[in-house]
Amino acid sequence: MEPLTAVIRDSKDADSKFAHLPRVPEAPIFAVMSAYKNDPSPVKLNLGMGVYRTEEGKPFLLPVVREAELLLVNDLEAAKDYIPTTGIAEFNKLSAELIFGADSHAIIKNRVVTVQCLSGTGSLSIGAEFLARHYKQHVVYISQPSYENHPNFFIRAGIAVNTYRYYDPETHGLDFQGLLEDLNSAPQGSIVLLQACGHNPTGVDPTLQQWEVIRQLMRSKELLPFFDSAYQGLVSGNLEEDAQSVRLFVADGGECFIAQSYSKTMGLYAERVGALSIVCKTEEVACRVESQLKDVISPTYFTPPVYGASIVTAILRNREMYSQWNSELKAMIERLINMRKHLFDALCDKGTPGDWSHIVSQVGMYTFSGLSEEQVAFMTKEYHIYLSPDGRINMAGLSAKTVPHLVDAIHAAVARNI
Ligand SMILES: Cc1ncc(COP(=O)(O)O)c(C=O)c1O
Repeated sequence: MEPLTAVIRDSKDADSKFAHLPRVPEAPIFAVMSAYKNDPSPVKLNLGMGVYRTEEGKPFLLPVVREAELLLVNDLEAAKDYIPTTGIAEFNKLSAELIFGADSHAIIKNRVVTVQCLSGTGSLSIGAEFLARHYKQHVVYISQPSYENHPNFFIRAGIAVNTYRYYDPETHGLDFQGLLEDLNSAPQGSIVLLQACGHNPTGVDPTLQQWEVIRQLMRSKELLPFFDSAYQGLVSGNLEEDAQSVRLFVADGGECFIAQSYSKTMGLYAERVGALSIVCKTEEVACRVESQLKDVISPTYFTPPVYGASIVTAILRNREMYSQWNSELKAMIERLINMRKHLFDALCDKGTPGDWSHIVSQVGMYTFSGLSEEQVAFMTKEYHIYLSPDGRINMAGLSAKTVPHLVDAIHAAVARNI
């Protein structure tokens, strides 16, 4: 006879108002991370999730962030009251200046609305919801490929998602012609999601000249730019240089959305710090847009959290801490560039078949290796190396010590010709 507990559980399941729900599969990157955690191998290597790690493979707490935290802990005046729905005003001002430049015409003319949001994700989500409510064209174009969560913000908001060509697997570089053709045939007024720098997952960015051509095309077709800036400073090591694409679009006086994240650039992943800026044509429109943003945010989480944004504000407002942050970013990117060179040299030395020069020509945190899903699965099974199924390698997960292991795995995967 079946035990009573099992019968009770089954009948309760059948009675549930949610029994019809199918299970949503885990996002591929989280599935990779769970598999990594459960792997007991001492040689396992985590090159999946986009998190910056040290040479020792440890999460990196930026010294300047630690300093800012100490300042906050010792600030006896700090209160835990509610803050405005739009967040900390000084954080918003400094975030806008960081991405647009303090001398930006749009800032000087009060045409920019900036609201503190829950990191890049929250900024993209609030931006998508705002567009769904208030923008005439419910179509967004996203690069192919792109950050895996990008389509979800827009799908949830009821905006149709299309793609534009971006990556050329032959050259491992930009498919510039394809990109222009696809944007040119997008319906007038479509939203276009662009990554400001350090494109995830490809590590391929347009040159400044190419950005200018993209800008001209987009403005001529009245396409609405929505920038995602998650890696400012982690490409060139220079915060100004990595903001050039955005600044080019803002300088022409046109409208523009920008989602900023401090997860990678200050290592504040868990604190959820970011900002959404909307550049408007006039100050009057900007005021109305801000009121509507409050209307989106208020029923979502009422007001954003203070702690992480206070860390960022402390760093951005203080000249010395700001320049210390710049130096730390430079050291981070130098380590990434070294890892690229190291991996490339080691593959060449081993004589692994193929052209691996894209490892050094791609930029930022990621290498889009060109390894197939089957090759990645083989490397995981046989070498305990975990990366995204699309072959994206988080270069910040690699160290001089682990390069040989990765090279052995790539060599074996390529040799099997799968
Ligand atoms: C391009 C891009 N945008 C946004 C995000 C979201 O990150 P967060 O919500 O931590 O800012 C990521 C994370 O990997 C990303 O790569």
